[in-house]
Amino acid sequence: MSVVEPLAADMTVYFYAILFARHPAVRPMFPPGMDTQRGRLLRALLRIVDLVDDPAALIRFCGHLGRDHRKFGTLAAHFPAVGECLLASLARYAGPAWTTETAAAWTKAYGVVAQVMISAAEEDEAVRPAVWPATIVHKLPRGNGIAEITVRPHLPYEYSAGQYVSLETPWWPKQWRYYSPANAPREDGTLTLHVRAVPGGTVSKALVHRAAVGDVLRLGSPMGDMVLDTAEHRGLLCVAGGTGLAPIRALLEEVARRGEEHRVDLFLGARTGAELYGVNDMLRMSQRHHWLTIRGAVSHEYIPGIRGSLPDVLAEYGPWYQHDVFLSGPAPMVVSARETLTRTGTLPEHIHHDPFEPVLSVG
Ligand SMILES: Cc1cc2nc3c(=O)[nH]c(=O)nc-3n(C[C@H](O)[C@H](O)[C@H](O)COP(=O)(O)OP(=O)(O)OC[C@H]3O[C@@H](n4cnc5c(N)ncnc54)[C@H](O)[C@@H]3O)c2cc1C
Ligand code: HEM
Repeated sequence: MSVVEPLAADMTVYFYAILFARHPAVRPMFPPGMDTQRGRLLRALLRIVDLVDDPAALIRFCGHLGRDHRKFGTLAAHFPAVGECLLASLARYAGPAWTTETAAAWTKAYGVVAQVMISAAEEDEAVRPAVWPATIVHKLPRGNGIAEITVRPHLPYEYSAGQYVSLETPWWPKQWRYYSPANAPREDGTLTLHVRAVPGGTVSKALVHRAAVGDVLRLGSPMGDMVLDTAEHRGLLCVAGGTGLAPIRALLEEVARRGEEHRVDLFLGARTGAELYGVNDMLRMSQRHHWLTIRGAVSHEYIPGIRGSLPDVLAEYGPWYQHDVFLSGPAPMVVSARETLTRTGTLPEHIHHDPFEPVLSVG
């Protein structure tokens, strides 16, 4: 992998080119434009190589990948085609580093990974659907290019508060994106998503500007470990930026639903006051629940009572080493909050956040 890694971009283009030329039947499973996807296969392989000495984690990772592939329509019969093209690409780009021994090791490794993915998918098939059609039953514009979209899956959809779901719209078929329900599971089975239209975004713009009540989306199985059961402490520190508030809101509803003795400090971070998202909703929640305290941190504007950048505000109100921490928002915000917290004594295992790129941290 270290030999081909610097050539990753070219190798990936080559891999898809020969895959689609030699096995045109698999082409329709992939999106027409492959830009976002291209690097992921290689990153998954790197992750597999990283995990090679930790079989339990490797099996978890591949099992998850296999179950997740059901939504693409992947079948056991497709694996030899992908394996053949992957090995041909590795051989071409590794050059002299590709020996008979390396080839044998990769053939064996691919066989094991494929088998774990296939078995996990088959076991999953026995207990749940590959995708859940879900009708939009409510849509509310929330300003700043954000929309609140409530969907009702046609079949029961089990998930835990704090998890995220992958979603496909009818306007961008095969373009799966991740969104976090902003509610704990409801009796009526509906899920509310908070979606921000990103500049140049395909799926997010369609959801915010085009989707309407009655449209049908498709959901993949829920993912993510940012759930309440991972917390070891009674004290919870939650830090949210922008639509990152969604899974945190779901966790707060879950705390309220369980009636457990958690005490929650919630920090809402933004660059400007206008960008502070969901404050009124959270203030209403804190009026109903004495265990919840809300504070804002605005970094690029002076607002009396709301001070400074997130790391400063966290440091000021800490220490937090006797808390479980849930972080959700733009990657730089999560990274800076994580750094501040670990510097001030919070153990990494008590800091929970979603992966920035789902495939990198599964397992
Ligand atoms: C675990 C997880 C949970 C998520 N939860 C939510 C959620 O609850 N609500 C929500 O709105 N989004 C959420 N996202 C982001 C979401 O999955 C999409 O990445 C986002 O909606 C952009 O998709 P798109 O198809 O519109 O953009 P794409 O077509 O994929 O990208 C178009 C352009 O926008 C850029 N871009 C992509 N994402 C962003 C971004 N976040 N900010 C700025 N530019 C970007 C890309 O670099 C590219 O140049 C989550 C992501 C992850 C990994
Ligand atoms: C060892 C074998 C394989 C590995 C490691 C692998 C890995 C991956 C990864 C990491 C992703 C990205 C998932 C995400 O969006 O989070 C992906 C997507 C995908 N894979 Fe695989 N895969 C394998 C085999 C296959 C096979 C056999 C097929 C069937 C032809 C397949 C079809 C797809 C499709 C259609 C996508 C979605 C593409 C997109 O969204 O752009 N994969 N794969």
